[in-house]
Amino acid sequence: MVKIIYSSQPTKKSSFLSKFIPNRKERKIIILSFLVSAILILSGILLIIANHQQLFTQDFRHYKGTFKQLGSISRIGYFVVISIYPIYFLLKLKKVKNFQWGNFQLKGLLQLLAKLVRKWHVPAALLSTGLIVLHSILAILRGFKVDFTYLTGIASMVVLIFLMFLGLKRFKRTDKQWHFKLAIAFFILFMIHATFS
Ligand code: HEM
Ligand code: HEM
Repeated sequence: MVKIIYSSQPTKKSSFLSKFIPNRKERKIIILSFLVSAILILSGILLIIANHQQLFTQDFRHYKGTFKQLGSISRIGYFVVISIYPIYFLLKLKKVKNFQWGNFQLKGLLQLLAKLVRKWHVPAALLSTGLIVLHSILAILRGFKVDFTYLTGIASMVVLIFLMFLGLKRFKRTDKQWHFKLAIAFFILFMIHATFS
């Protein structure tokens, strides 16, 4: 005889990520961006393995140009990611909020920008990080130097890892403002790394 158990509560599937990111739609976009980023890193590594002979014998200036380009693209991505702060900050200011010029309302434009950067904040962070992982692998592949550029690069990477983990805690505001503090530290560090290298 088959026993049928009726339950008044539908069984809820709760993934590890749902503990951090309550919104289902947002969770889906983040998982997708994470997968794209992982595929990017994996394909990059496979390409590096397939072309390792050429990469090791290539003129170093030319080789450097390639990984510097990856750094430059992800820098643009991180600008988009960090722009969430000035936009949210401006929206809080009364003077800016009430600014009007004819029919144009600054508040409307800022709200639209805030919505856009909020939607793309995590996907842009994950994709930029995919590129920066490849930038770092290529930078180290032809030898690690104990100099300003390499050390600031490593320091930026270490801060970035903590920043991303605390980003997960930011959804439920349990990060004690550490996501913001580390974002500022990361921004300063990678700008120093990229500008004075
Ligand atoms: C989050 C981490 C990082 C970011 C955002 C970043 C970003 C950048 C950017 C934007 C540039 C300059 C590109 C240009 O001038 O067009 C650069 C250059 C460079 N990065 Fe990184 N990078 C990071 C991590 C690393 C790491 C971990 C290493 C190696 C350990 C590294 C090694 C280098 C080197 C060797 C250069 C070339 C410097 C030169 O012109 O001589 N970077 N990086
Ligand atoms: C996977 C990585 C990341 C996740 C999951 C994440 C998540 C979040 C969340 C949920 C917020 C709050 C947005 C709101 O108030 O509605 C936020 C804000 C913010 N994030 Fe991220 N973030 C990530 C990466 C980054 C990176 C790489 C940077 C820096 C380049 C950054 C800088 C900021 C800043 C400046 C804010 C605004 C201040 C704050 O509310 O703490 N985030 N982030």
